[in-house]
Amino acid sequence: MSNVTVIGTQWGDEGKGKIVDWLASRADVVVRFQGGHNAGHTLVVGEQVYKLSLLPSGLVRGKTGVIGNGVVVDPEALLSEIARVTSQGLKVTPETLLIAENVPLILPVHGALDRAREAARGDRKIGTTGRGIGPAYEDKVARRAIRLCDLTEPETLDWKLDELLLHHNTLLAGLGAPTFEKADLMKHLLDIAPKILPFMAATWDILEAERRKGSRILFEGAQAVMLDVDHGTYPFVTSSNTIASNAGTGSGMGPGAAGFVLGIAKAYTTRVGEGPFPSELHDEIGRQLGERGHEFGTVTGRPRRCGWFDAAMVRHAVRVGGVSGIALTKLDVLDGQKELCICVGYELDGKRVDRFPSSPAAQARVRPVFETVEGWSGSTRGARSWADLPAEAIKYIRRIEEHIEAPVTLLSTSPERDDTILMKDPFDS
Ligand code: IMP
Repeated sequence: MSNVTVIGTQWGDEGKGKIVDWLASRADVVVRFQGGHNAGHTLVVGEQVYKLSLLPSGLVRGKTGVIGNGVVVDPEALLSEIARVTSQGLKVTPETLLIAENVPLILPVHGALDRAREAARGDRKIGTTGRGIGPAYEDKVARRAIRLCDLTEPETLDWKLDELLLHHNTLLAGLGAPTFEKADLMKHLLDIAPKILPFMAATWDILEAERRKGSRILFEGAQAVMLDVDHGTYPFVTSSNTIASNAGTGSGMGPGAAGFVLGIAKAYTTRVGEGPFPSELHDEIGRQLGERGHEFGTVTGRPRRCGWFDAAMVRHAVRVGGVSGIALTKLDVLDGQKELCICVGYELDGKRVDRFPSSPAAQARVRPVFETVEGWSGSTRGARSWADLPAEAIKYIRRIEEHIEAPVTLLSTSPERDDTILMKDPFDS
């Protein structure tokens, strides 16, 4: 098996872009299997900075990109992303980008409902990206989604839109938001159909042929385990399964598709949106981490909340996510801190617990239990071998490995592609 699946192990934004880009250069095919344009990957290639939301990162390396059935696709967002990267010199053609026939589409009603519901939630809002991801997944499960293949049968769109609007307009009207006209949505779909249909393919079958050929397939996860709809900090989660076992379902490959699961973890923790965050720092150190780590959301520009590394949370992610090894990123942001804290468990109602509880009320009550370790005065930025690292930095990594019960197999020490220390090549596992 020469496949690799990359997933985030915290709340997203762990620096997957750089790692996926590096792995993509060694892969034959890169597959997105969940999420939508709520994701944001920044890839720095030479002078060019690519900001991708929906396109598989491999396209930047000239590899075939597949958008699997587990993704939700906003055709307008996709087409404008294609136009953007094309203007930067990339070639995106039906030969290089393949989109599953059975992928559900995100329509303007989905974003409208997402935002209207968030506004109505007030203090209880989830902090979604407002891009319609949740409502689009709800429609898929409710069996009223319009899927890419439906655009090949325009005569069926009339009744499909009736069914969709019966649901959405009722909700939008109830929330006091503007409703949608069927004719406008029909025009929208008929306009985009000729632009997006050339990319449609039986991706499950093409991937099977690649598997038989022995191609290296890279599954590019979006978001992260703690945002997984089943295993994350529900309800403050996204609407898809972000864990590696979804690589098979979300692409049409079998359960063994994932291969080596590389979990990405930042050397500290960040979160955008609402929800529990036990090791969050509300002080000067938290502000410093945000500033030094440039912690602003790629998609929404929101400042990210920052805190100490939560080893108990990452251990949880390692277990439910099936993680084989960890890529630790942004260690250099901790350079110069006198002391560092690692959250190694929690206190809940006066009792020590090792596992993060499932109920939101208990999640809000847990307090972090910290282990303090010595910081380092030297720099880790740009290190390319263990010998370049201060001894305290190595000790910090070893403590993390012990607590999360997984090996650090890759260390990223700056946004530059070559500033990476590789302990084990995931494709050779
Ligand atoms: P949604 O995915 O837009 O429904 O948002 C649900 C939650 O997931 C919110 O807390 C978002 O901030 C978070 N989220 C979604 N995508 C990302 C991502 O790519 N990085 C970090 N957080 C994300």
